[in-house]
Amino acid sequence: MTTALAVTSARLEADDVISIVLADPAGRVLPDWRPGAHLELALPSGLLRQYSLCGSPENRTEYRIAVLREANGRGGSRELHDTGLVGKTLKVNGPRNHFELVPSSRYLFIAGGIGITPILAMVRSLGSSVPWSLHYGGRTRSSMAFTDELCRIGGARVALSPQDEDGLLDVDAIVGGADESTAIYCCGPAPLLEAVREACARLARGASLHIERFTASPAGSKVPAANGENTTVAVELRRSGVTVQAGPERSILDAIREIVPEAPYSCTEGYCGSCEVRVIEGVPDHRDEILTAEEREGGRTMFPCVSRALSERLVLDI
Ligand code: FES
Repeated sequence: MTTALAVTSARLEADDVISIVLADPAGRVLPDWRPGAHLELALPSGLLRQYSLCGSPENRTEYRIAVLREANGRGGSRELHDTGLVGKTLKVNGPRNHFELVPSSRYLFIAGGIGITPILAMVRSLGSSVPWSLHYGGRTRSSMAFTDELCRIGGARVALSPQDEDGLLDVDAIVGGADESTAIYCCGPAPLLEAVREACARLARGASLHIERFTASPAGSKVPAANGENTTVAVELRRSGVTVQAGPERSILDAIREIVPEAPYSCTEGYCGSCEVRVIEGVPDHRDEILTAEEREGGRTMFPCVSRALSERLVLDI
């Protein structure tokens, strides 16, 4: 769902981190969401960028996101930080959620840097209803956003670890301290995600791990494609009434965009979720880093920037 929302405020939360509040310009109630959800913002430059919601789902009049200014990033965060956006209107897609809280009797959260944003919404929603703990690392204390709010919510359940005071998070000890009934959630920079993924694999806890990426994982750790080879696939774009061929050298997204230039995309690496499209017929060969094993099995949706097909033909709802 796409809506035009007004930027009502922007506030410095930590070094290089601002929170941005968006609301309907006419004051209408916003679509609901659950912790782990993100918005996709269409920036004035045309860039599409995804940001986790970190406010309260109970507040249906505004969405809150937080943005780290990445000096060497791809430009989206600099645009949000450096352009005076308050009072302007942005097109927003979503909320979408690929990082849902599964029911569990106990939770362990591990966050690095700006990866705290979805986890802030999660721990706020859990409150004191179930046992949980959070290990939150950052470069320095002043670079870590929302620490006061987190400590108010969780008290002793929240362990803050600025790297210049305590070193890197001791991922092995943290994961090793979780029992088998604990659902483990991790969001942060790629090295932290890989360290947690490896620790969970070593300790046979991989099935409990839920990760949200905002960069692609290193080659080799991606979920392997069911079919290692790229074969030509005929892609029927049902709404457009056109069938296009995606040969081995061309992504299905590129084939789609030849007919539907406005088809959304952002990362082109299978982790952001922008290009998601509903599958009407055919069997996708999922190569993204988003869908769970059950969602892959269901085959109802796919990410055509990286995924291909196990069938000779796909029919997509676009
Ligand atoms: S463009 Fe990011 S998942 Fe396809």
